[in-house]
Amino acid sequence: MALRETDTRDPPAEHESVVHIDGVTKNFGSLTAVDDVSIPIRDGEFLTILGPSGAGKTTLLHMIAGFDTPSEGEIYINDQPISDEPPYERDIGLVFQSLALFPHMTVQQNIAFPLKMRREDPDDIDEQVEEALELVRLPVDYRDKPVGDLSGGQQQRVAFARAIVYEPTLLLLDEPLSSLDKKLREEMRSELTRIHAETDLTIVHVTHNQTEALSMADRIAVINDGRLEQLDTAEGIYANPATPFAAEFIGDTTMLDGTIAGEEGQHGIAAVGRGEITFETDAEFELEQRVRLGLRAERIVIAADDVPTENSYEATVEQVGFEGSRTQYTVTVPELDATIDVTQQDPGPGRTFERGDTAVVGWEPVDVLVYPE
Ligand SMILES: Nc1ncnc2c1ncn2[C@@H]1O[C@H](COP(=O)(O)OP(=O)(O)OP(=O)(O)O)[C@@H](O)[C@H]1O
Ligand SMILES: [Mg+2]
Repeated sequence: MALRETDTRDPPAEHESVVHIDGVTKNFGSLTAVDDVSIPIRDGEFLTILGPSGAGKTTLLHMIAGFDTPSEGEIYINDQPISDEPPYERDIGLVFQSLALFPHMTVQQNIAFPLKMRREDPDDIDEQVEEALELVRLPVDYRDKPVGDLSGGQQQRVAFARAIVYEPTLLLLDEPLSSLDKKLREEMRSELTRIHAETDLTIVHVTHNQTEALSMADRIAVINDGRLEQLDTAEGIYANPATPFAAEFIGDTTMLDGTIAGEEGQHGIAAVGRGEITFETDAEFELEQRVRLGLRAERIVIAADDVPTENSYEATVEQVGFEGSRTQYTVTVPELDATIDVTQQDPGPGRTFERGDTAVVGWEPVDVLVYPE
């Protein structure tokens, strides 16, 4: 059966990938934390590893950093297997969730630390610290303040400055924004994007937050249960999620179970609950085959009495979340025996629904995602 392809572009030539994760598996006893993952990371790209808690993200990052070794497979940095190089000789900057700054030391002492470890000329150190401060946009006269006196966002900037001050080729970020409040997190997101644009750093960033991944990454590696589900741009994954997991994890998607019941020209028909859903896809399915169907909340239309499409059903509004420019509904659809999330862009006064209202929901066949079970 021909399913959608994950990343249709040619894999990068060997020399183009700074880091090549090649068939890497990591076992902890009987647990497989990372399961045969291959990711060629391109020179200068911002790659985000996105997955839920326990997916194996940190384990993967630790292996790139050299804190852990793969049970199987190999990681290459600049075409060299990394097992050949001890961690301190690798050209890698790191920022972890817990920042790990030295709170009693000054900003200058924190940022200079990796330079001193590398025994750089003291005359150069001041200049490099100053450049790093400028890059993360911290005032140069902050250098003598103890780090513990700075705000959360300022400490975050110090942590970035310390990670990039010696100009590593690779920067590893493990949930670096998770300790910040929402507003600061948004601010630091755009700061990170700017820092990436102003340097030629290759960044590997780990998060469980899809908004963070979608807004910052050049490409996203979706991982679940140690396995790579999809590797593509944010737009690519959103438009063509390769697996039900990718469909559910990125965007607001309702998944339904169905059985292939027939076809009509370009369209396939799946039996769902007591009803049917018409879909359009290039993939081939067999009659009676069990499938999973995905519906994106924002592709569903909700109306008072009619939605002109093959897929239109009576629904009852169960929950309403008003968000200003849009409203999120949860509706039940008896015919499909389903509970479905629906996003409605602001339709103008008097056209929203309240809890308990009956309505009609509908979506186009082309907007149905279909996967073999
Ligand atoms: N040193 C270890 N020994 C045993 N099991 C481990 C070890 N490190 C990680 N694990 C297990 O491996 C799995 C993956 O853990 P990992 O820390 O990589 O997840 P994660 O994706 O980073 O999750 P989170 O988002 O919660 O940080 C988990 O089940 C975890 O319990
Ligand atoms: Mg982790």
